[in-house]
Parts: sequence; C-alpha cells; structure tokens
Amino acid sequence: MDYAERLKKLPPYIFVEIDKKKKKALEQGRDIINLGIGDPDRPTPEKILKFIKEAAEKNENHKYPIGRGSKIFKDAIITWMDKRFNVGVENDEVLALIGAKDGITHLPLAFVNPGDIVLIPDPGYPGYLAGTLMAGGEPYFMPLKEENGFLPDLSAIPPEVFKKTKIMWLNYPNNPTSAMADYSFYEEVLSYAEENSFIIAQDAAYSETYFKEPPISILEIKGAKKNCIEFFSMSKTFNMTGWRVGFAVGNKKIINGLSTVKENMDSGTVCALQEASANALLYCDKEAEEIRNLYKKRAAIFYIGLKEIGYEVFAPQATLYLWVKVPENYSSLEFANIALDMADLVITPGIGFGKEGDRYFRIALTVEEDEIHKAIERFKKLKDIL
Ligand SMILES: Cc1ncc(COP(=O)(O)O)c(C=O)c1O
Repeated sequence: MDYAERLKKLPPYIFVEIDKKKKKALEQGRDIINLGIGDPDRPTPEKILKFIKEAAEKNENHKYPIGRGSKIFKDAIITWMDKRFNVGVENDEVLALIGAKDGITHLPLAFVNPGDIVLIPDPGYPGYLAGTLMAGGEPYFMPLKEENGFLPDLSAIPPEVFKKTKIMWLNYPNNPTSAMADYSFYEEVLSYAEENSFIIAQDAAYSETYFKEPPISILEIKGAKKNCIEFFSMSKTFNMTGWRVGFAVGNKKIINGLSTVKENMDSGTVCALQEASANALLYCDKEAEEIRNLYKKRAAIFYIGLKEIGYEVFAPQATLYLWVKVPENYSSLEFANIALDMADLVITPGIGFGKEGDRYFRIALTVEEDEIHKAIERFKKLKDIL
C-alpha cells in the first residue's frame, strides 16, 4: 500500500527524536518543565463551561449544524466585529469553523490550482504549508526577519512570483515571533494584492492575547473586503483549544469558496459549542481580559529573567510565546536536545516553523509563575555550561 503523492510531499515531522526523549524522561519521573506546546494550561472559564452545559441540554442543538454557522453564532460574530474593530460585517461574510485550523488548511482547496503560488511566512504556523501542499500549490516562503520587525519584505518578492500568486498568508499577532502588524503594513500588502489579484488570508488566532495596544483587524483598512479573509479563534482567547471553534470573516466570494469546500468535507461546528461561543463573544470580556493579563505577566517575568542572564529575547508584544535566539554555534534542534538532556526543559526549536526559524527557539507561556522562575534558573545553568 502506497501513500498518495500529496501526503508524501508533506515535510517530515522533525520533532520525532525530541518527542521520544521527552516521553522517556517523563517515564523516568524526571521533573520536566514543558514550554513546548501552545496549549493553555488553565481550564476553560467556569462561565463558558456553564454556557456549554446549558447549550448541550437543548434538543435543537442535537441535530446536524446547518449552513455556514448557526444564527446565534453568526449574529454574535457580527456584533463582536463591530464592537472590537468597528468593522461592519454582513451575514454572508461570516463562516463558523472547527477551529481556525479548519479554515486555514482548507482555504487553498477552494482557490489554488496545481502550480499556483501561495506566499507563506517563514517562520510560520505549519498549517499554511500543509494546506498549500494538499491543494497542489507551490509554496514561496517570505522570510520574517528581526530587522524588519518580523514583517515580510514585499519589495524582495519578484513581480513574476506575485503574478502567479493566489493566496498570501499573514499571521499577526505572529506565532512564533509575537510581532504585530500596523495599518501602514496592511495598506502596503493590500496594494500588492489589488495589483496582482490575489487573496490575503490573515490569521488572527491570537487577536485577543496582546500585551499593549490591541491588534487591529486587516478588515479595518479601506477596501480590504475586496481581497481579504481573516481567521479568528476561540482557542487561546478563552482557553478553549479542546472545544474546536473558530470563525472566518471577509470577502463574500472567498467565504463562499471556503464554505463550499467545507460543506463537502465536514458537517459543521457542533451546535452547542457555536451557541456557547456566541455567549462567550458577547458576555465574557472579563474572562478574556484575565487570560490576557495572565500571559502578559508571565511574558514579562520570563522576558526580564532571560534577558538578565544573557539570552537575546525579542520583546513580546502578544501571543503565548517568547521568541529567543539560540546560543552561538548551535542549531535550534541541537539546542532543544541539549535543553532537554541537561536541564529538563522542553522548548520548540525554531526550525519547526521553517528554515528562517533555525536561529531561534520558542517558549510557550503555558506554565505557572513558580515554574517560570525554575525554568529561568535552568536556562541560566545551561548558559553557564555552554
Ligand atoms: C498561528 C495559529 N493559527 C491557527 C492556529 C489554530 O487555532 P485553532 O485552535 O483555532 O484551530 C494556531 C494554533 O496554535 C496558531 O498558532
């Protein structure tokens, strides 16, 4: 039995070795601090659990979800987009998703033909590449460099590449670098999209986990609805990764394309969870703020601690992550292995997000403060040894 070519094209899973070591270390009872995975350590807030339980009791929520999302969820998204970004959205500009990943990985199937180019940030969330390859598209990587504030340098992309481009992926606030984008950057990107008729797909999965000014939506830019779709997620905003709810907002035709793919592949987002998510968007600002403040505090402690002991850390602006330079003379994978072997620390090597990530590692802020202090001590020991 042979796998299909599209599956063989997916990049190899490079964390195999590190995952094996982590499992063994845990079996041996070692005191591992897991800073690897971006999955919130705290539970879904009580108030949202109550919404979920109440919605699960209702008979009407026991049937197949219909259309592009339930009325209650789509109405709540429209209200939230207005309140949060002052962006007016119509009913057919909204789509419920089974987490943002659902929309991200399926979008290319609606718009990319074999050989079409998809512009992908490097480093970047692996879903952009996976979806592109599954659709037979050609990835073209846009390096995100520290000297450019981890924004892609559009002037470095050849015009013939733009001509063949169908989708450009953006992700701000950015995983893994924690960088943010502003109006002028989005305006510049939009002018390229307009000139070359490609879609801008902006992944705003971390839109609510910010540490200073709230991130803007690309849809706030005049004319953005001509070419843009933006992805949002309940996962990190409300500690809801396990419930799998997200949504997309944007151009009608793009929403329609993605929706057509999904109608043929899945049967929608669990009705009770759409209802609970609607209530979370409408009535849980306080919960979102508490979660945001928790990560903000953790980020500040970790950032200062690592800087004091000589690590080069990019000042965190948002997300659940710190993006840190690996010490000289090590690849990110080598350093991640050493961190686990010598200091019982699990980190994500930057190479996991693309070639450009190899000079960095990512720390997830998903452990309590006492563990963060312990982790800083361990990073210090590592620094002294290396
Ligand atoms: C940048 C980015 N986009 C999307 C996702 C997926 O989000 P969801 O849980 O809504 O599928 C993640 C998850 O870690 C992410 O880091």
